[in-house]
Amino acid sequence: MSDVTLTIDGQLTIVPQGATILQAARRLDKQIPTVCYHPHFTPPSLCRVCVVEVENARVLAPACSRIVENGMRVQTDSARVQRARKGLLEMLDSAVDLSDAPEIQAYANAYGAEPARYGAQIKRRAFPLFDDNPFYIRDYTKCIMCWRCVQACGEDAQYTFAIHRAGRGFDAHIATFENVPLPESTCVYCGNCVQACPSGALKPRREYWLEHGLDLKELARVSQLERREKSGDAK
Ligand code: SF4
Ligand code: FES
Repeated sequence: MSDVTLTIDGQLTIVPQGATILQAARRLDKQIPTVCYHPHFTPPSLCRVCVVEVENARVLAPACSRIVENGMRVQTDSARVQRARKGLLEMLDSAVDLSDAPEIQAYANAYGAEPARYGAQIKRRAFPLFDDNPFYIRDYTKCIMCWRCVQACGEDAQYTFAIHRAGRGFDAHIATFENVPLPESTCVYCGNCVQACPSGALKPRREYWLEHGLDLKELARVSQLERREKSGDAK
């Protein structure tokens, strides 16, 4: 396979054909922020936080999925790129609880995101907490819709297909098919989705309840009660 020559922030570089701009930039130690991108999954190109400016292109390009071309001239941190990233991070921060997403918070700070400037127009995404299985909690109020859990559950890793996208627009969310409780879905509790989630929306159950004030003894008691209730022996 032949190589491709391009310029990134004025630096000439040669990378293998088929590389993405992100891969090429990382070879030059350029820091491009990413949110939905996961190195082991197909880039879904959903968050657009990784956008860069390609000379003569009308729109900004997602670095995580845009394949390099010979003679391409890329700006990874121009004023236009910074404005776009700031706006995207502001919208994310204004709609989603990012309290468990330190990496995204750091990006928001670095780009000077000011979600408060939307004032009264701010609408937060809110969903009920799903605590419906012994292994992990689903708190979609913290979900940034990056798609990584769906990829981990589906054809990028586990081939289980227990979850998918439901709803539209602002109300789009991740759900089991027919919104059944997780134990009634095809979930095999592999944990791949929890590992892949960058926002704390998916969290091991023990970790979640310890963070929310239950001590280990109390947690063991609650789990025991639940097991008994399930087996019909709730004494
Ligand atoms: S639950 Fe986590 S991994 Fe899944 S889409 Fe939401 S933020 Fe991404
Ligand atoms: S990291 Fe590239 S679009 Fe999300």
